Amino acid sequence: ASDKRETFSSRKLFILSAIGSAVGLGNIWRFPYVAYENGGGAFLIPYLVAILCAGIPLLFLDYAVGHRYRGSAPLSYRRANRKAEVLGWWQVLICFIIAIYYAAIIAWAAMYCWFSITKAWDKNPDGAGGFFMNDFLKVQDEVTVGFDFVGPVLIPMFAVWLIAIVIMVAGVNKGISRANAIFMPLLIVMFLILVVQSVFLPGAIDGLNTFFTPNFEALKDPSVWAAAFGHIFFSLSVAFGIMVTYSSYMKRKSDLTGSGYVVAFANSSFELLAGIGVFAALGFMAYNANSSVDEVAVSGIGLAFIAFPTIVSQAPLGSVIGVLFFGSLVFAGLTSLISILEVIVAAFQDKLGWRRAPATLSVTIPVALISLALFPTTTGLFLLDTMDAFVNQFGILACALVIVIVLGAGLGMLPKLAKHLNRHSSIKVGTGWKVLVGGVGPAALGYMLINEIQTKMAEQYSGYPAWFNGVFGWGMAGALIVGAVILSLIPWSKKSKLNDP
Ligand code: PHE
Ligand code: NA
Repeated sequence: ASDKRETFSSRKLFILSAIGSAVGLGNIWRFPYVAYENGGGAFLIPYLVAILCAGIPLLFLDYAVGHRYRGSAPLSYRRANRKAEVLGWWQVLICFIIAIYYAAIIAWAAMYCWFSITKAWDKNPDGAGGFFMNDFLKVQDEVTVGFDFVGPVLIPMFAVWLIAIVIMVAGVNKGISRANAIFMPLLIVMFLILVVQSVFLPGAIDGLNTFFTPNFEALKDPSVWAAAFGHIFFSLSVAFGIMVTYSSYMKRKSDLTGSGYVVAFANSSFELLAGIGVFAALGFMAYNANSSVDEVAVSGIGLAFIAFPTIVSQAPLGSVIGVLFFGSLVFAGLTSLISILEVIVAAFQDKLGWRRAPATLSVTIPVALISLALFPTTTGLFLLDTMDAFVNQFGILACALVIVIVLGAGLGMLPKLAKHLNRHSSIKVGTGWKVLVGGVGPAALGYMLINEIQTKMAEQYSGYPAWFNGVFGWGMAGALIVGAVILSLIPWSKKSKLNDP
């Protein structure tokens, strides 16, 4: 690069930014339901095993690669081995797909902060669900691809992209660090108030019982263990290139493993807190509808945009709950979005050898335009759903598996990386780490990948037409690999230093 590579000005800011990336929509709308579905309180056991045996070891692997080779994902892998560059581009393209739809969800959440005050969904005869699908997103009955724009989605999405681009242009210290230093404390305060308020709602205790009651029988089911491993990869944002990129901005003398433990602990604490808040609110919803918590428990888009609006309409001080909940989604989402974008920006900045501002603008503006063309439309929800299923849940598993095999068995790099981790770290890694990353990691990832391929082949995803899944699901996942190969063949700028730093 033409100017000196930035570093996080303090360890605290690195940790805060890494937590900002890890704590995302997944912590709030995914973890509570995954835990509930897979043994409730008993899920804590596979969850802890997954964190200790795969999540943290692979987090350390990302840190080691980024910090040792001091580059974006493609540059770091290339410096490790010329032929490994393509792995970095694969991650860049996965991040590109996630970024274009993540921005849409953040924009929806921002609009729902406002709707929580007006309770706009009360006027729809079909309630919050009807409002979300018909009034807000104007989802078409039939799955086609069209460009009918929906104004109330387009405008907030435009705002999200504007904010994200401003942060990205400002760089690691003035942009990423500062955004996290503002958004993360806000997120934590808002979320704590939300959880306390939810716990005092009538019926909350039933929700908490449903969430925590352990079902130890579940531990005999391999799919429960797979769910724990799958969730933890996603939740810690390992193998997306994000942690490689962020750790490349850490000062040379850094406590890598100590920081990793702090990030993992913070991420899990936030998830557990979310489990309490979400299930307390669902307990209230069940109490109000005179039904059981099992009846109303949902995750993801259904939880955020259908169940929560219903709670907002019925609860005392419901608007406060709504603003806190959707505001939390916005801040948690934004800090994750910028970490995803940094993977893309850093990669092109390295490859082209440009300065921060021109590199950032020439990458993020096209990304924003693609996102704005596809998602604020009447077919945006279908696209989002399919892309999430194929790229975020399936493509990333394949990518992670290839990376651990290449770095471990393929290139035999684990001893070297372990040595690097131990150079400045407070907690040392040893043979255990190499066994976990080289053996347990690939085994768990391979198992989940085979599982995932089988389910995706067996049923048309979400009942979408075959051509739709073919193009936007399988086609998209395959196109990313082809795209990564092409990008890796493009020559680097003469200014890029390709040798081992
Ligand atoms: N770790 C984030 C979460 O738990 C999700 C995420 C994955 C964000 C990959 C960015 C990239 O929500
Ligand atoms: Na997370």
